[in-house]
Amino acid sequence: MSFDDRGFLFGDAVYEVVRLYDGRPFRLDAHLARLGRSLAGVWLPALDLKQLADVVYDLAGEEGAAVPDALVYIQVSRGAAPRNHPFPDPPVSPTVLAWCRPYHALPPDQFLAGIRVVTVPDDRWAKCWIKTVNLLPNVLAKEKARRAEADDAVFVRDGMAIEATSANFFVVRDGTLQTAPVTNYILPGISRQVVLELAAAQDIPIRLEPVVVEDLAHVNEVFLTHTGCGVEPVTTVDHRRLGETAGPITRRLYDAFEALVRVPVSR
Ligand SMILES: Cc1ncc(COP(=O)(O)O)c(C=O)c1O
Repeated sequence: MSFDDRGFLFGDAVYEVVRLYDGRPFRLDAHLARLGRSLAGVWLPALDLKQLADVVYDLAGEEGAAVPDALVYIQVSRGAAPRNHPFPDPPVSPTVLAWCRPYHALPPDQFLAGIRVVTVPDDRWAKCWIKTVNLLPNVLAKEKARRAEADDAVFVRDGMAIEATSANFFVVRDGTLQTAPVTNYILPGISRQVVLELAAAQDIPIRLEPVVVEDLAHVNEVFLTHTGCGVEPVTTVDHRRLGETAGPITRRLYDAFEALVRVPVSR
């Protein structure tokens, strides 16, 4: 890749991450549709999503056979041109890169023991619904979490805990599942949507409202959702221990998610 690539110089690029379970991409159409929206969101030309799907299936075929549980990463930048803020005129070809790497899941017992999160101020821009590679605020928040002996950070905007650095954020309070509604301030997670569908199918009450940060002291369960590992239990929030392992509703949704991803689907 050229060092003049605008993805490298300006973060002028968007991306997607697709999980392969047993060598099969999970919810590929939803990921590609979101990539299409991200491209439009930064005025990048639309790509042939069918062709991108072929790329993912080719990678899954080549690498997925050897590494059935893997991640496919796709990044599209505005291309390479001498450094100048305005879009290149005439336009240059976008740089499209994709790779597939093994995903090493933790053993279930260890995974279900959960992670620790801390809340941090959300100092990102106002277009968090676009999956851009401008992840420096997320990187710094994650490092802040690490320095606070936690595993991830949850962004707080206007007193509301809305999402984590690379995951959506759910709580359970008195049997009701709660997560922020989709606005421009969060990424509309594919796993978030799957979990909402699974919860509805199990008649778990759902409240689509951001979580007031003070209420975190009273929630019973917390989990994150993301493409990497689906439903990820959180057992410590701002140094308050919620439990030794995933709570009952988290566990139900985790089990349902794990069952769903293993169901073979035709292309
Ligand atoms: C900021 C942010 N929120 C939420 C998510 C979860 O989205 P998904 O479930 O589509 O992976 C991600 C995933 O990378 C993310 O970066």
